[in-house]
Amino acid sequence: MKRYLITGASRGIGRSIAEKLAAEDVTLLLHGRDTVALAEVCKAVKPRCEGVVRLIHDLAIKAGISDLIAAVGSDPLDLLVNNAGIAIVKPFGEITPVEWEQTLGVNVTAPFLLTQRFAPKMRPGASIVNILSIAAKTGFPNWSAYCMSKFALEGFSQSVREELREHKIRVINIYPAATDTNIWNNLEGDWPREKMISPNDVASAVAYALSQPAEVALENISLSNLTGNL
Ligand SMILES: NC(=O)c1ccc[n+]([C@@H]2O[C@H](COP(=O)([O-])OP(=O)(O)OC[C@H]3O[C@@H](n4cnc5c(N)ncnc54)[C@H](OP(=O)(O)O)[C@@H]3O)[C@@H](O)[C@H]2O)c1
Repeated sequence: MKRYLITGASRGIGRSIAEKLAAEDVTLLLHGRDTVALAEVCKAVKPRCEGVVRLIHDLAIKAGISDLIAAVGSDPLDLLVNNAGIAIVKPFGEITPVEWEQTLGVNVTAPFLLTQRFAPKMRPGASIVNILSIAAKTGFPNWSAYCMSKFALEGFSQSVREELREHKIRVINIYPAATDTNIWNNLEGDWPREKMISPNDVASAVAYALSQPAEVALENISLSNLTGNL
């Protein structure tokens, strides 16, 4: 039996990844905060999985991250997907300390601590997938906190990848452009959904990278809308 942990699996890209990776020999450990949404995802994937575990924790606070780590337990993971993320979009002068700390907590501290805790127990052939963004490579006006967090995760991922190479653990970085999920719902501005890719497109890229032979590392995948990004 394989054990896959996906953070932020209650909706959006995380949900699509959970649906894509559901398989008879897999136990999915699905994390989120919204109990109702996560229950729906678990119900949808359960018939196709060996097992499903629901994990409800707030990753913006350290206690939430350590509670998640404790709940996952000590059995090795075959896959860790660092997907949960938040976006604060406003001029950098208006970002509050709380918004900054939440961004850092969910987008940076959680992937750092989860990777630090779970990677050492992973067996050869296991994988870590980080859902980054085109904002991990380019700055955009009003996206300073988000870009800073994703650039930080990029540096961490690149370094960890080199440390884990000798253990035959793959670190796969995914860089989606604007993707049609709820993350855009509360952002000020006009965000045309028709110019976005779908969460299923991102999940397909993750599944493709994971489907490669264990000795093949498909390490970086950028996805964008052919007709141009926002
Ligand atoms: N959508 C895009 O355009 C886009 C593009 C590039 C990269 N990404 C990245 O893709 C990842 C998924 O984003 P999405 O678009 O699928 O967003 P989404 O639909 O808003 O989903 C975000 C997920 O993260 C979880 N999450 C948010 N804050 C959390 C917290 N404090 N503690 C625990 N979990 C928390 C949410 O859980 P609950 O809802 O249950 O609270 C949800 O499952 C993020 O890392 C994002 O930066 C998104």
